[in-house]
Amino acid sequence: MQGSTGSGARDGWGTHAGFLLAAIGSAVGLGNMWRFSYIATQGGGAVFVGAYVLLVAIIGIPLMTSEFVIGRLTQMSPARAMKNLGGSAWAPLGWLFALSAFGILSYYSVIAGWTMRYAVTAFGSGIPTDAGAFFGEVATGTDALLWHLLFMAITIVIVLGGIRNGIERASVILMPVLFALLLGLAIWAFTLHESVAAYGAYLEPDWSHLFNRKVLTDAAGQAFFSLGLGGGVMMTYASYVQSKRDLGVEATVVSACDFGVAFIAGLIVFPVVFTFGLSGQVSESSVGALFIALPAGFASMGAAGQVVGFSFFVMLFFAALTSAISLLEVPVAAFVDSLGWTRHKAALVIGAALVLAGAPSAYDTNVLGATDAIVGNFLLIVGGLLTSLFVGYKILPQADAELALGLSSPALRRGWAFLLRYVIPVVLIVLLYFLLAPTWDAVLVIVGRG
Ligand code: PHE
Repeated sequence: MQGSTGSGARDGWGTHAGFLLAAIGSAVGLGNMWRFSYIATQGGGAVFVGAYVLLVAIIGIPLMTSEFVIGRLTQMSPARAMKNLGGSAWAPLGWLFALSAFGILSYYSVIAGWTMRYAVTAFGSGIPTDAGAFFGEVATGTDALLWHLLFMAITIVIVLGGIRNGIERASVILMPVLFALLLGLAIWAFTLHESVAAYGAYLEPDWSHLFNRKVLTDAAGQAFFSLGLGGGVMMTYASYVQSKRDLGVEATVVSACDFGVAFIAGLIVFPVVFTFGLSGQVSESSVGALFIALPAGFASMGAAGQVVGFSFFVMLFFAALTSAISLLEVPVAAFVDSLGWTRHKAALVIGAALVLAGAPSAYDTNVLGATDAIVGNFLLIVGGLLTSLFVGYKILPQADAELALGLSSPALRRGWAFLLRYVIPVVLIVLLYFLLAPTWDAVLVIVGRG
């Protein structure tokens, strides 16, 4: 196995397309299929989509560029890279990334286990018409735990293979299949008789949401999660890049693909939900659309529904897998680089710890939801805020020559620095305030009552 020790030659991407597909694979995940269209319906359709695109442009792309720059510049895992560039005071940020990635994967793998379970059932007997009852059976308990275990085992095996022979190889095979399934399903959804009305319901702008702070917090949280920012994933992947390409362009390509997939997934979800009159089940919860309403639609279509349902859940499973390997790679790279562990030991030990850490989420969806809110939303934004401060104030003044390689246009570089120093920190601090304020109010109420 290549690059299996911290001190030996480091593993790297075999081709540039391999890196791009892996980065897109990390970004494109359950968030695209599971959260985007659900939040869009809650946040005023096109108003949400517009806010989302704006946030991706002013926050997402500059932060992804920053992660790429740090990774490629140092060729080290985030924990070492931070220390190397910023001194010991910044090392904890690298470890925070590893912790966030670990925390996300713990529950992400449980949901990914559901997608495997659904794919297998769709292939065999077909998902029962009462998809709600089916979900109730498989979402928690021993069943959920076993599928979580199986999903983690597959993830661990890929990461054990290393960057070129594991992660890159998997991404190069899985991503094109995923794109083909996505397009095929979108075309099929277009043929459903309620499709046009459904597109309207998905995207019709509800302007009353324009100045709604929930739209901002939802769009920003979704942008961080979907682009995979603030958890060191893109930084880790870029640390295996050797080419000298413009990183601003790469970040734009990855972000655009991520948005494209989320948008198209909505064009699949809505026609199904509308044609089969299932919108009531969608508004109940965000997983409701994916695991209850859609399968109910597929189930009512007989044999054709079985094929479509199977394709749909295989697509979700591939999307989840290419994200999960990136999440596992962050703590693995940290242990290999900073503690001198072999890749083998790190992947097995951390993977086993993840199986245990995910167990509470497999037994209780409230734990899953709470972990998602704390790690998948809050901690990623904290990580993004610290990254913008780190690059804006610590790196930019020192490392202009290297940065010129990362972002070749001087005008764009100035714009990027401005966003990182003044715009992104302010927006993210306001956002964290919005996120914390209700919690704080709740604490005051509890204390007051207690
Ligand atoms: N972006 C992935 C998704 O949309 C999840 C993810 C989050 C991956 C954070 C990496 C880092 O599902």
